[in-house]
Amino acid sequence: MKKMKSVPVNEEIYNYILDRFVPEDKIADEIISRTEKLDIPLIQISPDQGRFLYLLTKIINAEYALEIGTLAGFSGYHIASGLADGGKLTTIEISKKHGDLAAEYFKKAGLENKTEVIISPALDQLEKLVNENRKYDLIFIDADKINYIEYFEYAVKLSHSGTVIIFDNMIKDGRVTGDAGDDEDLRAIQMTNDLLSKDERVESFLLVIGDGFTISRVR
Ligand SMILES: C[S@@+](CC[C@H](N)C(=O)[O-])C[C@H]1O[C@@H](n2cnc3c(N)ncnc32)[C@H](O)[C@@H]1O
Repeated sequence: MKKMKSVPVNEEIYNYILDRFVPEDKIADEIISRTEKLDIPLIQISPDQGRFLYLLTKIINAEYALEIGTLAGFSGYHIASGLADGGKLTTIEISKKHGDLAAEYFKKAGLENKTEVIISPALDQLEKLVNENRKYDLIFIDADKINYIEYFEYAVKLSHSGTVIIFDNMIKDGRVTGDAGDDEDLRAIQMTNDLLSKDERVESFLLVIGDGFTISRVR
């Protein structure tokens, strides 16, 4: 039996982390305040998750990244900022209102040439990217949960050996261990975690950061 060894993160520790490791960022703050003003739901990743995505993008020296679920560009801004020179983030969003705001902020951040916002239902666009034989170094999935398993299948097709695939909301507000009942999103997340933990095409880990990132490396 493996015993729990992790130290639970309380608010004090969380603020300690933010104070030291998540630098002040005017663009990131502005994305959030505009999101709020425009009545777009505040469902972006947390600032520490943003910093983690930025660093991870750099650590793996990612050139091409794909995101499913742009919202107002908060996570995309962090990924695009970490990309290697000449790299590009392709981010797919179903809502024009969300995608347009993201594009505005990518431009404001000087990331216009490193980003491409595609307004489309993700599954349609993913099929096109597969047909174009595109491959990505990093794939971040943060859209409608019920399609997570399908998104994973597309992500594998759009990967090379070593591609990192990340899913958000994988502890679902701490409810991931509970009975899903009528909650289709929770059920989809549980099924996705179960799949990722066993699928031979990837090696995976569920990292407790924000609402939980399940990170996989394609073999
Ligand atoms: C949780 S938000 C993304 C947050 C963003 N990744 C961030 O952290 O800044 C989910 C987004 O996915 C979009 N979305 C939902 N279903 C979608 C679909 N089928 N295809 C593309 N985008 C979708 C929503 O409109 C919403 O903007």
